[in-house]
Amino acid sequence: MKGIVLAGGTGSRLFPLTKITNKHLLPIYDKPMIYYPIETLVEAGINDLLIVTGGRNSGDFLRLLGNGKEFGLKHINYTYQEGEGGIAEALALAEHFADNEKICVILGDNIIESSIASAVRDFERQERGAKILLKEVDDAERFGVAEIKGNRIVGIEEKPAQPKSNYAVTGIYMYDETVFTKTRTLKPSARGELEITDVNNAYISEGTMTFSYLDGWWTDAGTFDSLLRATNLVNATRGAKNRQAEPARAGVQG
Ligand code: DAU
Repeated sequence: MKGIVLAGGTGSRLFPLTKITNKHLLPIYDKPMIYYPIETLVEAGINDLLIVTGGRNSGDFLRLLGNGKEFGLKHINYTYQEGEGGIAEALALAEHFADNEKICVILGDNIIESSIASAVRDFERQERGAKILLKEVDDAERFGVAEIKGNRIVGIEEKPAQPKSNYAVTGIYMYDETVFTKTRTLKPSARGELEITDVNNAYISEGTMTFSYLDGWWTDAGTFDSLLRATNLVNATRGAKNRQAEPARAGVQG
C-alpha cells in the first residue's frame, strides 16, 4: 500500500504562528509536526510515500525531510497544492502517484499514540472500498462525525452542530483506486472546499466502507488549543519514555 501525507493549506487558524512558516513544520514536543504522521505510516510498514505540500514554504519540507533517511526511507515523493481547496482537492493530486494501488492517507496535523498496522493489514485483505478509523471524543462538533447503526456506518456529517454520535472520523483514510473517480465528482462545500467527508459518504452509499476504532489517544493540531494538547500528549507518553531511557535529557534546561 502507498502512503500519502496531506500537508497543504495555509494554517490560517494558527496565524501568526503560520505567518512565516507552514503549520506542519511547527514543533510538537521535540519534533516538527509532519514527523508524526510520517512515522505513523512507516511504522505500519508503508514505505512508499507522497507528501502534498502547499503555501509559501513548501521548499522547507524538502530541506527538512530530504529523501527520508531519518525515517529509514530511501526516497520521498513530493507534490504541490495551489491554494487550499480542501483535503479532497489535495488528495486528488495523488492520482498519478497512487497508480491504481490502494492508498493510506493521513492528514499532516493528525497525531496518534498507537499503531495503525493492524487496520492497514485488514484493509490490504479487504477486496475493495475504503476504511476509516473512528475515535470517541467529547467535542465531536469540531470533526467529521460518524452515524453508526449496529455494526454499520450509515453516514458522516462534517462539523455538525448536533452530532449524531461521539465518534469523530480521524484523519486516517484507506482507499481503493476508485477514490479518484469519486474526487472528480465533488462540488465545493459551503466553506468552499472539496470535502473528504463527501468522498467517504460516496463509499458509504455504495456499501463498501468499513471502519475500526483507533486505540490510544488521537489529536489534531490545527488550533492553538489542539496544538498545545498535541505537545502535552506527546510529552506525557514519548517524553516520559525518553526521560526513562536518557535521564540526562530530563535535566536539560532552556
Ligand atoms: O482531523 C480530522 C478532521 O480533519 C476530520 O474529522 C474532518 O472530517 C476533516 O474535514 C478534517 O477537518 P478540519 O477542518 O480540521 O481539517 P483542516 O482544514 O484543519 O485540514 C487538516 C489537514 O488537511 C491539514 O493539516 C493539511 C490538510 N489539507 C487541508 C486543506 C484545507 C490540505 O492538504 N489541503 C487543504 O486544502
